[in-house]
Amino acid sequence: MDEFGQLCYEISNCKNCDLSYSRRRSVCGFGDQNANIMIIGEAPGTKEDIEGLPFVGRSGALLDRVLAQCGLSRKDLYITNSVRCKPPFGKAPRSEHIKACSSYLAREITLLKPAVIVPMGNTAISALCAVLKFRTGKVTEMNGKILRLGEYLIIPQFHPAAILRSPKREEVFRENFHRIASIGREIKDKGIEQVVSTRGLELVNL
Ligand code: URA
Repeated sequence: MDEFGQLCYEISNCKNCDLSYSRRRSVCGFGDQNANIMIIGEAPGTKEDIEGLPFVGRSGALLDRVLAQCGLSRKDLYITNSVRCKPPFGKAPRSEHIKACSSYLAREITLLKPAVIVPMGNTAISALCAVLKFRTGKVTEMNGKILRLGEYLIIPQFHPAAILRSPKREEVFRENFHRIASIGREIKDKGIEQVVSTRGLELVNL
């Protein structure tokens, strides 16, 4: 079993918090293990809990549609969550759930070494801040900004569920993913330093 397989095995058998008692299936990260873009969501919903895969419900359909419009598909990315088991219906995960799952996110980042990390929504921003030990603002303030933390570019986005609730935000959501896709492609060819300097990226250094 490779390291991602081992990680997924542990997530599937995890009993770190109370959500493990009510879940049907825990949800591991999914996608290209060599991707240079990692997307982080919040937690599985009903459909993800049944299928054991991230973003297979309504939020996932919106995400897939927007990614396709930007020339990206799931096979170009690695998609994961802040919390791996479904919280009670209609409830956001609590801080102890995020904490119980944080070592899984940390290990995924170490294994994948993504150049670009896209936390979608406030739960993902908090989970990432805890793992990489930085502080930043809420998604309303940070949406679309490019934060530089060592070898990572962190580009916060709204969560697709927020776009479903407020469709006027979709255009910005799509523009951000366009930018994320082209930055990801360029980093593959030229490396992060070259991209940062030639694009003259306006960075928030952490
Ligand atoms: N919302 C999330 O944040 N993650 C999923 O996997 C599905 C919906």
